[in-house]
Amino acid sequence: MAEENYPVIHYMGINQKITYDDPDSTILECSISHQIPHLHECGGNGRCSTCRIRVLEGSKNISPPTMRERELAQVRRWDPSVRLACQCYVKGDIAIQRLVWTSAEINKLQLETVPEGVAEERAIAILFCDIRNFTKMAFENTTFDMAHILNRFYTTIGDPILFNNGVIYQYIGDEIIGLFGVAGGTREKNCRDAARAALGMNYAIEHLNQMELVDFDLNIRTGIGINFGKAFIGHLGHPKHKQLAVVGDPINTASRIQSFNKDVNTRILISQSVLKSVPEGTFELGKEFSTKFAGHEHDSMLYELKGFKELDIQLELQSSMDFLFTNKDEFARRFYERVFEKAPQTRELFKKNMREQGRLLTHMLGSIVYSLSRPENLKTGLQFLGRSHYRYGVKKEHYPVVLSSMMETIEEQLGEHSTPKLLMAWEQALNYVTGEMMKFAE
Ligand code: HEM
Ligand code: FES
Repeated sequence: MAEENYPVIHYMGINQKITYDDPDSTILECSISHQIPHLHECGGNGRCSTCRIRVLEGSKNISPPTMRERELAQVRRWDPSVRLACQCYVKGDIAIQRLVWTSAEINKLQLETVPEGVAEERAIAILFCDIRNFTKMAFENTTFDMAHILNRFYTTIGDPILFNNGVIYQYIGDEIIGLFGVAGGTREKNCRDAARAALGMNYAIEHLNQMELVDFDLNIRTGIGINFGKAFIGHLGHPKHKQLAVVGDPINTASRIQSFNKDVNTRILISQSVLKSVPEGTFELGKEFSTKFAGHEHDSMLYELKGFKELDIQLELQSSMDFLFTNKDEFARRFYERVFEKAPQTRELFKKNMREQGRLLTHMLGSIVYSLSRPENLKTGLQFLGRSHYRYGVKKEHYPVVLSSMMETIEEQLGEHSTPKLLMAWEQALNYVTGEMMKFAE
């Protein structure tokens, strides 16, 4: 125990020791008050499990697992050393490790709900994306260049899957497969998420071609197919090597839809089951096709997907992430400069290290973009943030100042990439964020 007999929490990953000097705060609250980044998507409600920690030493010095923790541990097959930081109070010295580091990792937690050893039927949207002329590229480039190009390709097209609550199922050579709705979600949401991921992929590939692959004299083209249906999911295989397996006709059909792009020279095709999942007029569509897939009795209708008819805030925000936070420290510096210029009295509310504060802010903005695809968690997360801001002394009248400073900084940092549509999407998202937080302000 440290001075005054306060317990010490040792964060092993970053080798930082802090004093637990408020017995009423959870481990999560303690991380936040010490400016240690600690994901907490649902805002400490014991629902998202992103705040999970592994207790490496002193497990007896932590309050016993709550009902919520016990339920989650059973469903997700956790060993007893895994706890939720938002549910734990500390009585003596402990050593812990945070287990989820980035927002991009959160979707993977869905796989814990997939049964082990047996397969369960689940309704999911399936996305297949394939690089065109891959063989030609492999022939014309060295192995080293190819590995570099493929890594960049997988990152570029993997991100839109992760942004939209999807799980990356497999990379097979020149193909990537994404699954949406593995742990539930409505049919409409899962299909919308998959469609948004496909549109985001096309956007990201254009960017990759223009910015990075010019040097390789390369222009990557992709073909994407999306289908929706019931598939069998399980962790299956040899007892010593089980892996996620997803089987069923909807999977094979999604692969064939993807291939069909080549025949008709399109980039994204969706099946009728995807189209039927969303209200009429949601998607902007191009050409329609009717084809008979091997093994099917009837013809299938396929539709070329061009976009969303109405502004899709998530798609816009996601497409801006690459440019907006290229220099996070600079973003935060410019933002706070504006806030303190417009409302100098807010300066004294900030007691801690401003550089770390800036990092927490940009980290939070990035996390919000990810958690827009999990709105139930986002809402409770913002309530938590609103309550903590009330404790920091933030008043209702401060929010418009922060909002306008944020919008000006976003426009400035986007530079030539700024468009009225993008700014409108950011403004709507931030209005929602501050609106939820403000409910707790005086
Ligand atoms: C878009 C809205 C906002 C977001 C996303 C945001 C985000 C954050 C984050 C992530 C933290 C770190 C601590 C924590 O997680 O609780 C924080 C702290 C803080 N924020 Fe905000 N904030 C917002 C609005 C505001 C407003 C309107 C004010 C008023 C001036 C403000 C003042 C503060 C202060 C004083 C702290 C504590 C700093 C310290 O203890 O040194 N924030 N904010
Ligand atoms: S479960 Fe702890 S923050 Fe969501």
